[in-house]
Amino acid sequence: MTKFTVNGNPVHFKMAPETPLLWALRDAANLTGTKFGCGAGLCGACTVHVDGKAVRSCQVPIGSLEGTLVTTIEGLSDDRSHAVQQAWIAEQVPQCGYCQSGMIMAVAALLKTNPRPSDAEIDANITNLCRCGTYPRIRKAIHRAARGDDAATLPGPDTTAAEAARLAPSLKAG
Ligand code: FES
Ligand code: FES
Repeated sequence: MTKFTVNGNPVHFKMAPETPLLWALRDAANLTGTKFGCGAGLCGACTVHVDGKAVRSCQVPIGSLEGTLVTTIEGLSDDRSHAVQQAWIAEQVPQCGYCQSGMIMAVAALLKTNPRPSDAEIDANITNLCRCGTYPRIRKAIHRAARGDDAATLPGPDTTAAEAARLAPSLKAG
């Protein structure tokens, strides 16, 4: 049994210690926002935070995580208010979306240690893969999040579609 905290909740995982964190999150904790891509530490689709640092959860055995704080995309904010999430919406970054929770987690960790990264620093640190090729929009959204453009402008979860369209013209009312 391994015990650590996931999105603020203490969890006991009754799984073999060598179980990759990715599968503990998806299969036992039902946190399916974290995605499986390559299973080999290459694509970053499975990125989560362990004690605030971005890790590729397919490569981390849960036995190494006793007592740590794990955050997944579901725990990044309660109401999609994290600056990276808001910048992602404003710049309409995702296409198919599969890589995006891992991207967002990797970027959120980067901005904690480097609040105004240069293009070169983004390229060096955000090595996640996106088969849809959203890289230009990702870079734009990272700079937007770093500037804090959306601090008080983007809608929360209870906002109506019409109000959301007024606050963020990129979100059209249906
Ligand atoms: S699934 Fe973990 S890095 Fe690709
Ligand atoms: S948005 Fe489709 S893989 Fe990145």
